[in-house]
Amino acid sequence: MAKEEAKKWDDRYREKEYAYGIKPNVFFKKEIEKLNISKILFGAEGEGRNAVFTKTLGHDVVAFDISHEAKKKALKLAEQNGVTLDYKVGELPNLGFKPKSFDVIALIYAHFPSIIRQEYHKMLDTLLKPGGYIIFEAFSKNHLKYKMENPKVGGPGDLDVLFSIDELKSDFKNYNIIQLEEKTIELDEGIYHIGQGSVIRFIAKKQ
Ligand SMILES: C[S@@+](CC[C@H](N)C(=O)[O-])C[C@H]1O[C@@H](n2cnc3c(N)ncnc32)[C@H](O)[C@@H]1O
Repeated sequence: MAKEEAKKWDDRYREKEYAYGIKPNVFFKKEIEKLNISKILFGAEGEGRNAVFTKTLGHDVVAFDISHEAKKKALKLAEQNGVTLDYKVGELPNLGFKPKSFDVIALIYAHFPSIIRQEYHKMLDTLLKPGGYIIFEAFSKNHLKYKMENPKVGGPGDLDVLFSIDELKSDFKNYNIIQLEEKTIELDEGIYHIGQGSVIRFIAKKQ
């Protein structure tokens, strides 16, 4: 399963262009600039657009993904921006992160396969310090109709891998919710997120 998923993403990231562009996600950028943090973990970070931007702000950044090709492109982007990245490739349970070691966990379009989603969210919760924040944006279950009308907006085609507000509430129970909304937005990210889509935006502080 993980091997198939990694192969799918490696194939995409072997393309010359950056799939979701080289600029940070608009919502993530706005939120991270508000927070006074030091150490941040990016899950399913892909080609590094958000991690590299955050590193240029001077924060301590760690990223992970299952795709080796993603890491190569992320390190290249980091070099172009004059920074370095601590980027691990593999499955989260094997990466050796320490409990309560991050101030922020960033999950931007981190559509983990549905059979591991809950376990991954639980594990990510243990890595966050009390008082730390989750910053999350990803496609909602209502996104399917937008994808059908306009395939260029991208996103998973499987309802199970798309998110609902209830799933996030249930995965992150011991949190004060600062923002949790489903919204139709206009995406303009690289070559695979173009057009109108339905997303969930979630900011929460761990108790
Ligand atoms: C839509 S991309 C988002 C990439 C990046 N966060 C961004 O917004 O540019 C989804 C990413 O999830 C990664 N992924 C899928 N399953 C994963 C897993 N089990 N562990 C870590 N990353 C995974 C893929 O390799 C891919 O890079």
